[in-house]
Amino acid sequence: MAEIEALVQKFINLYGGEEAGIAIFHAPGRVNLIGEHTDYNGGYVLPAALTFGTTLLIRKREDKRLGLASTNFTTFNHFSIDSVMYDHADDWMNYPKGIVNELHRQHIVFNCGYDLLYHGEIPNGAGLSSSASIEVVTAYALLSMEDLPKDKEKIALLSQRSENEFNGVKCGIMDQFAVANGKKDHVILLMCDTLEYNLIPFQSHGYKLIISNTGKRRGLVDSKYNERRSECEQAVNDLRSLYPELKLLGELTLEQFNSSKGLIRDDVVRMRAQHVLEENERVIQAAAALNVNDMLKFGNLMNDSHDSLRDLYEVTGQELDAMVEAARQVSGVLGSRMTEAGFGGCTVSLVHEDAVQTFIQEVGQSYKAKTGLTGDFYVCSIGNGVERLV
Ligand code: GLA
Repeated sequence: MAEIEALVQKFINLYGGEEAGIAIFHAPGRVNLIGEHTDYNGGYVLPAALTFGTTLLIRKREDKRLGLASTNFTTFNHFSIDSVMYDHADDWMNYPKGIVNELHRQHIVFNCGYDLLYHGEIPNGAGLSSSASIEVVTAYALLSMEDLPKDKEKIALLSQRSENEFNGVKCGIMDQFAVANGKKDHVILLMCDTLEYNLIPFQSHGYKLIISNTGKRRGLVDSKYNERRSECEQAVNDLRSLYPELKLLGELTLEQFNSSKGLIRDDVVRMRAQHVLEENERVIQAAAALNVNDMLKFGNLMNDSHDSLRDLYEVTGQELDAMVEAARQVSGVLGSRMTEAGFGGCTVSLVHEDAVQTFIQEVGQSYKAKTGLTGDFYVCSIGNGVERLV
């Protein structure tokens, strides 16, 4: 709470006025335990919300201005709430602007303006969904302030559309959905095509999740993310000679795929699709393993997922591979894999609680020796989705 008081003080220093009228919201970051590059293929994912994320302080103002500030950046500006436009120079502010733009598209008319102050605890570019966290908390806060319904599925979808269209990043639905719908101590088994989901208790039986940040930044825009998406679309196109109605790879079973994959003409494209179908199957098996508390199986599936992302989908890179290899050397580690888009960012490992300190020390040393980079480690707990704090 001391931190909240300090944030309120910052808000007042920045925007003036009194504490009265300031509302406070929080949206988490997320970590995906398994199911990578399956969301935009209409497959399954298994993410969890983190306990840290983005805190947003917001207060109405009489005119129709939108004040955007963050404790993480020096950029601070006011815009007209009636016409927000993408501007590269506005950097992170394009995320909240994109949400306001989406709310306009939903025919929401603002009769006042708002001042906003963000405080992000998610390392930028680490692949823990800092952008989805900003988007979802902004949408949730503005809808709350306007006394409008806050349907979390709709919030996730409009946040994704804003990232796709306003910010030009063709991400799938996983991040925004997890950030909106997460629940303390649960993972979310989400079917990304239908958005049907189950919350599965994460009873780790003495095992902890450790996120290891490679310190190698990855940006979806400049990564090969969009290229991978097109490769998957190409695979669907080729498979349409047998399945004319096929829209997404995730609609096929692994058996259907294996018996028709010869129709995919390009070897590389076939590898990409193979990953997607097998990864999808792994998510289903991982959820089943969690349901019967089979952590060993869960860990093995995490390892298989990483190996497939390295060899078939080719999105890991030397930093993520080095971090995972170092993790797998530590006794007490059941599984370790890259999480999120790849090319940098974080890994997630399932580590026995007695081995946590050894893990941080040994993986840190070995990673530094191999790459020259300093890794960062977070022993994570699973938190709630977006909510109002005050
Ligand atoms: C990024 C995207 C997600 C998902 C992952 C890969 O995090 O934002 O939608 O595609 O990459 O699984």
